[in-house]
Amino acid sequence: MSKITEKEEFIKKYYGETLQRTDDLQTSACCCSDDLLHPLIKEISAEINDEVLAKYYGCGSPIPPALEGATILDLGCGTGKDVYIAARLAGPEGFAIGVDMTEEQLEVADRHLAGQMKTFGYDKPNVKFIKGYIEDLSVLGLEDNSIDVVISNCVFNLSQDKEKALKEVFRVLKPGGELYFSDVFSGRRIPKEISDDHLLHSECLGGAMYTEDFRRLMRNLGCMDFRIVAQKRIRPGNAVIEAKLGMIDFYSITVRAFKLETLEDICEDYGQVAVYRGTIRGYPHYFDLDDHHRLITGKPMLVCGNTASMLQETRYAPHFRVSGDRSVHYGPFNCAPAYSKKDEGSDSGGACC
Ligand SMILES: C[S@@+](CC[C@H](N)C(=O)[O-])C[C@H]1O[C@@H](n2cnc3c(N)ncnc32)[C@H](O)[C@@H]1O
Repeated sequence: MSKITEKEEFIKKYYGETLQRTDDLQTSACCCSDDLLHPLIKEISAEINDEVLAKYYGCGSPIPPALEGATILDLGCGTGKDVYIAARLAGPEGFAIGVDMTEEQLEVADRHLAGQMKTFGYDKPNVKFIKGYIEDLSVLGLEDNSIDVVISNCVFNLSQDKEKALKEVFRVLKPGGELYFSDVFSGRRIPKEISDDHLLHSECLGGAMYTEDFRRLMRNLGCMDFRIVAQKRIRPGNAVIEAKLGMIDFYSITVRAFKLETLEDICEDYGQVAVYRGTIRGYPHYFDLDDHHRLITGKPMLVCGNTASMLQETRYAPHFRVSGDRSVHYGPFNCAPAYSKKDEGSDSGGACC
């Protein structure tokens, strides 16, 4: 990273000094309620050190399933809660790396590393924390095509160069690798006076990505289809700040994207069928690819070419039986939700696809 801006210095100071614990935040943007968590993740969270938990500023749960043996990279890891959870799920054969620019955050993460490994019963640490910027991972020694899963929790919104950061994600991911992250998004572009406000930016609101600009950015980076796993409206919960924000609507969104060259810009029908084997740890009954694709164990589901690729050309492949290929094309795929969590009263909107 060439030049540290005044805003970056403010953000560092905010997370390194101003905030001592989650309760010090002035809005609820960087807060994640436990009801979003999978029971397996809740169980592991109970094993995480109290200080690490007290300084947690995430806005979602960016921990995908099927992490056994995976190399995971957490961008903007803070005090390491998600790194430790990922390391636990990856097991001794896997490895989790946390990157953050704020020294004080990493000091807490590092100080609890030995104790956390002991709690997990691991003889050899499978976690490493690195100080640095998510916009330039090469200087940190993170090589091309070296990572299975990139996760991140409420960090891209803080980045001064989101395109560079996301470009780095696709550089370090292995082919078929997954980006799975939670972040703050907005329903419209943020006016300059709000994005220039250092406090609003540090509270993860001022730098929120407008959802359609994010879609454009991903396409420019070659990612033609990504999926929304969960979406929840954020109510900042601070009257003064809400008055400044006016009519901007904010969302905490969890996104899943893959490094796959076979994805098309719209869903196409090749007559492919996927069956979930029910073999992913913690998911015996179904697997949610996104907020409108729930694959029920053993039940055949007609899927578009992109969904077939996501299930067939990634680490999820052993857990699915996909029949058919792209040799015959039947036209565009009507991706109307076969299953939608909307029906269960959540705030979910339709994903792309
Ligand atoms: C909202 S906190 C989230 C921390 C952590 N993911 C969690 O869930 O607790 C944002 C974190 O991102 C880090 N951060 C912000 N911009 C960064 C950048 N450009 N490069 C590296 N770290 C960054 C901050 O230092 C801070 O620790």
